[in-house]
Amino acid sequence: MISKKNHDLSVSLGKIKLKNPVIAASGTFGFAEEYEDFFDLNELGAIIPKGISLKPMIGNVPPRIFETEGGMINSIGLQNPGLDKFIIDKFPYLRKIKTHLFINFFGYTEQEYVELAQRLNDLPGISGLEMNISCPNVKKGGIVFGTNPKMTFRLVQKVRKVTKLHLMVKLSPNVTDISTIARSAAEGGADSISLINTFKALAINIHTLKPEIGNIIGGLSGPAIKPVALRMVWEVCQTVKIPVIGMGGIRKAEDAMEFILAGASAIQIGTANLINPHTAIEVIEGIKRYLIQHQIPSIQKCIGLFRI
Ligand code: FUM
Repeated sequence: MISKKNHDLSVSLGKIKLKNPVIAASGTFGFAEEYEDFFDLNELGAIIPKGISLKPMIGNVPPRIFETEGGMINSIGLQNPGLDKFIIDKFPYLRKIKTHLFINFFGYTEQEYVELAQRLNDLPGISGLEMNISCPNVKKGGIVFGTNPKMTFRLVQKVRKVTKLHLMVKLSPNVTDISTIARSAAEGGADSISLINTFKALAINIHTLKPEIGNIIGGLSGPAIKPVALRMVWEVCQTVKIPVIGMGGIRKAEDAMEFILAGASAIQIGTANLINPHTAIEVIEGIKRYLIQHQIPSIQKCIGLFRI
């Protein structure tokens, strides 16, 4: 149990106040109940379950995961039960958790994004949406929108019109200039930006001469990408005025602090959840220790303190 005495861990994402800046990242935390035996889920700043599409998706051919040095390549292919089944089977559990719930969603077309956002807007118990325009593992939709600034702007603008929920847009690092995409998302009406999703990656089995991933190319995540993620988060923080949520290889409080000092208002824990399911709670405790050590009363005061 984390004591809240003296040190304020709360952060704001626009009108939403998180009890702490630590968010469980989509795709690495299932639908949360998978983690209930490890720690009290109510302690998290927010939860983002696996991304949801209008229709169920069976995902990509196996193998879908391959461990690399300092990281992991995945090509799950956005497997999910689809919105209707999600609402019946997963949502009742999620909405009982006493923290903010952001629903990650994606479509193949603009119309699908809009329809999903509309339907999720009418679902009570959701704090916000995380719009995924960054998955590298599907041929249509997703990343196609997130690698073209005009398409990003257009899609965010359309989705903005149909939802009053907080709209977080999740960006891909597989672009030349992530700040340009971030600016487009902000101009389209995003309330916050989350970054980064995974890097397109390849691993070859030198004995079978085949790719290690069934879909050939997957997305690299984990500690190996942290310095690049941090650089991108820092750049985006200097570009947009809306809150930025940083992620990419965070596995301990010191990593989280780097992102916060670079300007992130909150952070997401992704791949580390799969290695140590207690990571999120350990990061919360570690951030509190950092505040005590440096005699800083509130984590909010640390955001963007990094100086060059
Ligand atoms: O393949 C996947 O399900 C990954 C999704 C993502 O990176 O957004």
